[in-house]
Amino acid sequence: MRTVVRRMDQPDEAELGYREAAQCLAAGQNVAFPTETVYGLGAWIGSEEGLRGIFEAKGRPSDNPLIVHVYPGFDMREVAAEITPRVQALMDRFWPGPMTLILPKAEQVSSRVSAGLPTVAVRMPNHPVALEMMRRAGLAVAAPSANLSGRPSPTTAAHVMEDMNGRIPLILDGGACEIGLESTIIDMTVDPPMILRPGGLTMERIREILPDVRLDPGLSVEAHVTPKAPGMKYRHYAPKAPMWMACGTPDEQEAAIRQALAQHEGLRRGVLTVREHHDDYRAEVIQAIGSLDDPETMAAGLYDALRQFDRLGCEILFAETIPEQGIGTAYMNRLKKACGGHVLDPGLKKGADDHDE
Ligand code: TXA
Ligand code: MG
Repeated sequence: MRTVVRRMDQPDEAELGYREAAQCLAAGQNVAFPTETVYGLGAWIGSEEGLRGIFEAKGRPSDNPLIVHVYPGFDMREVAAEITPRVQALMDRFWPGPMTLILPKAEQVSSRVSAGLPTVAVRMPNHPVALEMMRRAGLAVAAPSANLSGRPSPTTAAHVMEDMNGRIPLILDGGACEIGLESTIIDMTVDPPMILRPGGLTMERIREILPDVRLDPGLSVEAHVTPKAPGMKYRHYAPKAPMWMACGTPDEQEAAIRQALAQHEGLRRGVLTVREHHDDYRAEVIQAIGSLDDPETMAAGLYDALRQFDRLGCEILFAETIPEQGIGTAYMNRLKKACGGHVLDPGLKKGADDHDE
């Protein structure tokens, strides 16, 4: 299959892109499209063929449910069995935006979307191309992130192309995603409501509407409880090379990474750091994403950096960490997953060698 990419910043091409997207979706084909978080791989929720295509194209396990994307004017009763006043308040405040709500599922929603669960995940993305695509097609679109299962989510059309070339007919190129990490998932079918995946909408802001919201205990890396969002149990967001993260103060982190680098001379080593620390390390590949003063810029750069380490053939990776507040909660959730539990010992005593598996 030939994969066509349409540049949505060019008016003529955008016009074509919207028309082709509407045709593809209605015909049960898959379209990759930009959102403010990451690129999605879409299918019309009414097409079993399109839904099946998503799992095939991604190599996604079929027990992992999809997020339904909606647009202004869409009748939520088509997907959700009940909209409580609290749910309405969240939608009014944070949609369109990086917030996915788990709601009781309307009967007609395909079990391919919900993976057999009695609930459905819904969000209204805050991206003009995503909204216009759905509005023109007049269809709600189920979409996971448009990466191959297990790879970092795509934040540019080029990332989507890397993973999906030849697997889907159409990619709408809307440039780089502004947020760069997936949406926050809130389960509104439990009391108190529970955050199943930290994301682009911070806990602090959700508390303005839901003061009693809790974080799923299954989210902590050490947890022996299964996370409630089926997708959170897979090794995700991971580069190919093993990755180790440093903890503690900036100085402790620097010491730990320098020591680990020294212990791994001879390997192709990569460091994930920030602009302020770019010159602190000597390694084959150093990627400084964003600035410590502005963790949003780090979030926006994380997935591209992970893919870049793969492209540059790194064999071992070391990453700095940031405080788990604001967008830092989502950033650290993804980084921990990418590291698969690998934590460097604090500098100057022991190093990564002691942990090799
Ligand atoms: O920002 C995002 O949310 C992006 C863009 C494309 O919208 N989408 C995204 O989809 O990240 P995906 O499939 O990569 O992640 C969806 C997550 C998975 O962890 C899945 O298990 C969970 O949502 N999920 C979906 N439906 C659910 C449900 N009914 N109950 C619990 N978790 C659910
Ligand atoms: Mg995903």
